[in-house]
Amino acid sequence: MKPYIYITRKLPEAMIEAMQQKYEVKMWEHEDIPVSKEVLYAEAKKADALFTMLSDQIDEQILTDGNRLKVVANLAVGFDNIDVKTASIEGVAVCNTPDVLTDTTADLTFGLLMAAARRIVEAAEYVKEGKWKSWSPMLLAGHDIHHKTIGIVGMGKIGETVAKRATGFDMEILYHNRTKKPEMEQQLGAKYVSFEELVEKSDFIVCLTPLTPETKNLFSREVFSGMKQSAIFINASRGPVIDEQALFDALTAGEIAGAGLDVFEREPINRDHPLLSLPNVVALPHIGSSSVETRTAMMKLCVENIMAVLEGNMPKTLVNKDWKPFVKA
Ligand code: DGY
Repeated sequence: MKPYIYITRKLPEAMIEAMQQKYEVKMWEHEDIPVSKEVLYAEAKKADALFTMLSDQIDEQILTDGNRLKVVANLAVGFDNIDVKTASIEGVAVCNTPDVLTDTTADLTFGLLMAAARRIVEAAEYVKEGKWKSWSPMLLAGHDIHHKTIGIVGMGKIGETVAKRATGFDMEILYHNRTKKPEMEQQLGAKYVSFEELVEKSDFIVCLTPLTPETKNLFSREVFSGMKQSAIFINASRGPVIDEQALFDALTAGEIAGAGLDVFEREPINRDHPLLSLPNVVALPHIGSSSVETRTAMMKLCVENIMAVLEGNMPKTLVNKDWKPFVKA
């Protein structure tokens, strides 16, 4: 009996050809509708491998019920949607897609910062809506980016790459991270500071920290009130790292100047969400890694990881480092 792979979203056929030649492969039929819980649970019970999206919750039940399950390959660098602890106990390899998306996600993060600072989205809508009647001295005047201070919270690979972009804008770079990065500090002239100092001194606060129990609601009411009134907050990590109501209140009270958000507590965000009513909020639909080149590379990496595990080898990008390959019968 061939191993069975279930893919939770419709992907281009060309991406899965290699797997189809060796295994039985089934895909959820929709590209833009997530697989239902019922279908996911039923498929996971039969599957040797799951190819998942960040919108799928891979919980304890899925991992313990899936008797044949050997690998979950997630199309994202973040894996907060997967119960990694249970996966390890159950001997299931969890794989993600780091590295291949670093530059692309950093580009989007910096682009979001620029859009929020220079009011690019608002200005583009202004032109398209026919509101542009004449050049005027302060028309849609935004905030400078160059020579300002950027504070990066979560200095992983994407954070470092955002910092690299910031050097091109002559920015002062502050960062806060679980570990200090002396080599990167030297290369990019970045300075390690406490979270409180970063919040207080930065003109742009960029959140790139993964979602963990420790970072949930890290950006609280108190944190937003400690920011400069001219500060712009950018989130390209995960929505639940911020208290959205507190962010809304800080923006409406003029405690901070603006926000650029690629991620939300609940995705997709409801169009009636109060944050979407604010002109100083740039909101994107979680597209950090979404370029054709990068999404293609991410899909390929997931395929390689699944095939490696099913062949009894180590996958390229393993999350639960304690996992060991299966010995072939
Ligand atoms: C991921 O892959 O985890 C990020 O959200 C990039 O979009």
